[in-house]
Amino acid sequence: MDVLLRQGNLAARPAGSIAIGVFEGERALTGAAAAVDHAAGGAISALRRTRDFSGRFLETVVLYPSGLRARRVIVVGLGRASELTEQRVRLVAAQSARRARELGARTLATVGHGAGRGGLDPARAAQAVAEGSVLGHYRFSAYRTEPGPPPLRRIEIVELDAAAAKRMRPAAERGARWAEATCLARDLAGTPGQDLTPERLGERAREIARQSGATAQVLKGAQLERLGMGALLAVGRGSANPPCFIVLERAPAQPRAARGARTAARGRTPALVVIGKGVTFDSGGISLKPHDNLHKMKYDMSGAAAVLGLFSALPTVAPPFRVVGLIPAAENMPGGRALKPGDVVRALDGTTVEVTNTDAEGRLLLADALGYARRYEPEVVLDLATLTGAISIALGHLAAGLFTADDALASELLDAAGASGERLWRMPLWDEYAPEMRGEIADLVNASGTREGGAILAAVFLKHFARGMRWAHLDIASTAWAPTQRPHEPRGPTGFGVRLMLEWISRRAAVAAPAA
Ligand code: BES
Ligand code: MN
Ligand code: ZN
Repeated sequence: MDVLLRQGNLAARPAGSIAIGVFEGERALTGAAAAVDHAAGGAISALRRTRDFSGRFLETVVLYPSGLRARRVIVVGLGRASELTEQRVRLVAAQSARRARELGARTLATVGHGAGRGGLDPARAAQAVAEGSVLGHYRFSAYRTEPGPPPLRRIEIVELDAAAAKRMRPAAERGARWAEATCLARDLAGTPGQDLTPERLGERAREIARQSGATAQVLKGAQLERLGMGALLAVGRGSANPPCFIVLERAPAQPRAARGARTAARGRTPALVVIGKGVTFDSGGISLKPHDNLHKMKYDMSGAAAVLGLFSALPTVAPPFRVVGLIPAAENMPGGRALKPGDVVRALDGTTVEVTNTDAEGRLLLADALGYARRYEPEVVLDLATLTGAISIALGHLAAGLFTADDALASELLDAAGASGERLWRMPLWDEYAPEMRGEIADLVNASGTREGGAILAAVFLKHFARGMRWAHLDIASTAWAPTQRPHEPRGPTGFGVRLMLEWISRRAAVAAPAA
């Protein structure tokens, strides 16, 4: 599906559907809504007069007026103008695109909701509409015999004002690419463990790297042993599908002025490292999980999926620093050679860990990834992991847990979360928790034996391996799977973290870019 920005009059566009937003509690229609209403012989005004439609946020009606070159008009409530946010715009666009697809339309024409009366920056509005449209339009049909309503061929965001349209065009492009990257992460997380083994994840990483100007390396067996990745190898040992460690690297974009010149940019540039937990299926291992929701544990590689989604869209950001993606990938199974409770493993940095619970496997393979990250002398390290059920007990499904000892990094990430609509909530990481993770026979244990503060204890365990680095951890077990459908996401994998990371990295890129 193409998303494009077009300069012109929405009311005159030929399309399978037009989608228009209407505010609640306004006397008169304005902007594109007024233009469409006029061309459609007052159909929207008439709808408002019936009081069947008030413009309440996400309230939706479909009209079939004459006078337009479009087959139908999807009218969606924007809520009160004073309460309009970019996230609301995203959701309204998502609702429109979802409905257009359900109705069997092949094209949709809409506007940058909120750029006029709503007072949003036109470029931000265009990005939000592009993102929402692609996210709401998404459907995971790879395993269906009846594919359902076909995808739209084209979504147009139409803007009358030429100067605004010019600013909105790249923003819409970026929004579409970012949301497509999110959908890529959703597809990966939704793919059953049978079809997405660690090895297959490595192949996908290679493909994605090739398409997006990055390199990918997949380390296996003997290489992992030579590196000393005892924790990753231990987690993978109970499965017939062996573990691997995926390294993605994207070189810094050269600033225009420095291209070809022998400048400092040629030397070692600072690296930003993102790590994604890649457990392609988590049975719990010998500490087997209860069976009720076990089928969902194919999404235990959602951190890895987010990292791959990020890399697929990095060309839209082209940061002037190196970006490294690390994915420890394994299947956690209770096979005959499986890791046993009581076993002691040695992580890459030499730390010994007594495995008191084989179901706390994520922190083990992340320990090796954090150890590996050190070789880049990174400016900053961020990991994303579906790490604990406890984070959902704490936060429900509306926010992921943010853990970091660094206040400046926390506020960078919280700002990016706010802008992307992918919410984070900061959790404590005090050193006083550390004694609970100390071992009796080894340096650490991987599980404390109590359920209290489970998400924090997992983060405190990671903190040991991140020592000396500027680091933050996102526990996305709460947000990577949506328990109920919302306009911008169906039930199931959400692709959480992709747009948040893209927003964060583009803000860092804007600061890092030397003034022209
Ligand atoms: N992948 C799970 C965490 C998880 C649970 C994600 C539910 C999504 C939904 C992780 O590997 C795990 O099993 N964690 C344990 C830790 C415990 C054994 C200390 C948990 O949360 O129960
Ligand atoms: Mn587990
Ligand atoms: Zn897990």
